[in-house]
Amino acid sequence: MRSLVTGAAGFIGSHLIDRLLAEGEEVLALDNLSSGSLANLADARRSAMGKFSFQRADVTSTATADIIKRHKPQVIFHLAAQVDVRKSVRDPLSDAMVNVIGTLGVLQAASEAGTEKVVFTSSGGCIYGEPDPSRLPVTEDQVYLPESMPESPYGVSKKIVLDYLRYFKAVKGLDYTALALANVYGPRQEPASEVGLEGQVVAIFSRKMLGGRPCTIYGDGTQTRDFVYVDDVVSAYLAARDKGSGELINVGSGVELSVNDLYRNLAELTGSRFEPIYGAARPGELHRIVVDPTKAAEQLGWRPGVDLAEGLKQTVAWFRATA
Ligand SMILES: NC(=O)c1ccc[n+]([C@@H]2O[C@H](COP(=O)([O-])OP(=O)(O)OC[C@H]3O[C@@H](n4cnc5c(N)ncnc54)[C@H](O)[C@@H]3O)[C@@H](O)[C@H]2O)c1
Repeated sequence: MRSLVTGAAGFIGSHLIDRLLAEGEEVLALDNLSSGSLANLADARRSAMGKFSFQRADVTSTATADIIKRHKPQVIFHLAAQVDVRKSVRDPLSDAMVNVIGTLGVLQAASEAGTEKVVFTSSGGCIYGEPDPSRLPVTEDQVYLPESMPESPYGVSKKIVLDYLRYFKAVKGLDYTALALANVYGPRQEPASEVGLEGQVVAIFSRKMLGGRPCTIYGDGTQTRDFVYVDDVVSAYLAARDKGSGELINVGSGVELSVNDLYRNLAELTGSRFEPIYGAARPGELHRIVVDPTKAAEQLGWRPGVDLAEGLKQTVAWFRATA
């Protein structure tokens, strides 16, 4: 199977590439290196024996379309994205340029290149908005409820692409599965800054605690998230290669964890003795979100295999080794 992975040098994309190569697949990696790093692809470059190649390109450019048409991948795993929720609020246009127009370019080129399937990366934490507590854990069919309104342009972009996917499947015969990822955590997730992005809380706390520094919790820490380990997420992508046709599918643990509880777990693992500093809640952040992974089990045969205790242990070990 010949696959193309966009966003290949990023946190999730690089883990996906390592697994595809371990299965003996031929992989073309594409990334503009805006937030990803070639260091994440070091294992892939070492191990690949001619089955791996990397192209530095922007998904909004004609170069990406040309690469897709030249290489004719059977499957495209589309992960490249503007991933900063707060930046999307400041600058919705540049968010949409990458997340909507860039994705549209990938879909158009894929349909012209005869690609069989696109596995698109949506966001379980953002497309549903702030669900009424009675609707938690949130199921995929809630995405088109009038009250399911994304709180950020990033969430909007990750939602409206779903309509383009349906259009390309119905009219151009390009199959798809859209994975709505919960909060993914694991090795190689690097905080974008001191404050970090909202989805990077495990990485931010781990780095700070291991560096002997205190952490700030924005809000009172009762806000909840659904944390899913990166290896499990990669398994969902692989399952989506030939299952889940034409579906939006949540990929999460189904377990709701407060940021305070996450803090306590990580403080124990890292030996941090600091109490958290509480700062003002950040506007636009959800209070509670947890996704229902039942459809992933039914359609993809996927279930999370790594529980939080084990996942955090592995993650902290990696941050300790790379400190
Ligand atoms: N990490 C999470 O918790 C989470 C949750 C839900 C959805 N997602 C989605 O998963 C995908 C991967 O995210 P990640 O956490 O690995 O982030 P990441 O920043 O590590 O990876 C994104 C990659 O895309 C690349 N990229 C960005 N803009 C590009 C462009 N215009 N052209 C080509 N490449 C470009 C970046 O350089 C980076 O390598 C994204 O689509 C993100 O929206 C992530």
